[in-house]
Amino acid sequence: MIVVTGATGNVGEALVQGLAARGEKVVALSRGVKESRHREGVEYRRADLSDSDELAAAAAGGDALFLLLSGEQGVFGPPPSEVLRAIERAGVRKVVLLGSQSAETRPGNAAAPRITAFEAALRDSGLTWTILRPSGFFSNTFAWAESVRAQRAVHWPFGDIALPQIDPSDIAEAAAAALCSDEHAGHAYTLTGPEPISPREQVRDLGRALGEPITFHELTRAQAFSAISEYMPAPVAEVTLSILGTPTPAEQQVSPDVEKVLGRPATPFASWAARHADAFR
Ligand SMILES: NC(=O)c1ccc[n+]([C@@H]2O[C@H](COP(=O)([O-])OP(=O)(O)OC[C@H]3O[C@@H](n4cnc5c(N)ncnc54)[C@H](OP(=O)(O)O)[C@@H]3O)[C@@H](O)[C@H]2O)c1
Repeated sequence: MIVVTGATGNVGEALVQGLAARGEKVVALSRGVKESRHREGVEYRRADLSDSDELAAAAAGGDALFLLLSGEQGVFGPPPSEVLRAIERAGVRKVVLLGSQSAETRPGNAAAPRITAFEAALRDSGLTWTILRPSGFFSNTFAWAESVRAQRAVHWPFGDIALPQIDPSDIAEAAAAALCSDEHAGHAYTLTGPEPISPREQVRDLGRALGEPITFHELTRAQAFSAISEYMPAPVAEVTLSILGTPTPAEQQVSPDVEKVLGRPATPFASWAARHADAFR
């Protein structure tokens, strides 16, 4: 049985679906999940990662677990060793951790110390482990949905700076591969999209997916900071804008790891946009 935390999010939802489609028995965990929800092969259980006893109880019976530290759990929360001990108490023997490429490229980033500490604790834990370090997600463009729906417009900074962002479903597929076989044990993978793509190009692809043009309005960094700090903490907004505006060479590079793990190239943004166009209509 495989336990998926963050099971209702961009990566987790796709992972639950993918594991169930492979015929795996899945336990899907989050705080807000409805335990009455039903999907063939999936049991939904409620748990808050900030409560290690609750996590241990909810993960009971799992052989492998996907660990996603979302929101404030990415910055605060119980010490990594306590969380991993709770997972071991549940009987789990393998953990696939969702980290972040930026913890490597931006060690000063607000979330980096906790992710780095989780990676270190997992390596030392005696559990079988795989670490996934993705670049920025295509799903971050959901932040544009409201203005696309209302005005067919996107207001965003750094229109022509291209980064190899990734489809969360590719991360989910890599996680499923690591959870279901021992081939990826002891590996840390940097997961990126297939090519660098700029916000202006993403807006063009979204317009094609909608069948209507979308106008791109370039914001200054200061304008963008005040817009995005409405929905993310200021230190996270700062590092996000630094990655988007002044990426390091490592952040601009396409990693071979998605292809190595999945045996196919990473999914392009245009395909993600076509699958998610309804969210922007
Ligand atoms: N977005 C990016 O560009 C990017 C880049 C690199 C790495 N990452 C990493 O990706 C992760 C976010 O993935 P995502 O986009 O799939 O997440 P998401 O869509 O924001 O979903 C978060 C999931 O975690 C659950 N959750 C949140 N807080 C929880 C808690 N305290 N206890 C239990 N469950 C909790 C949520 O459900 P409930 O609210 O119901 O609990 C939901 O299922 C983060 O770890 C982030 O560091 C993101």
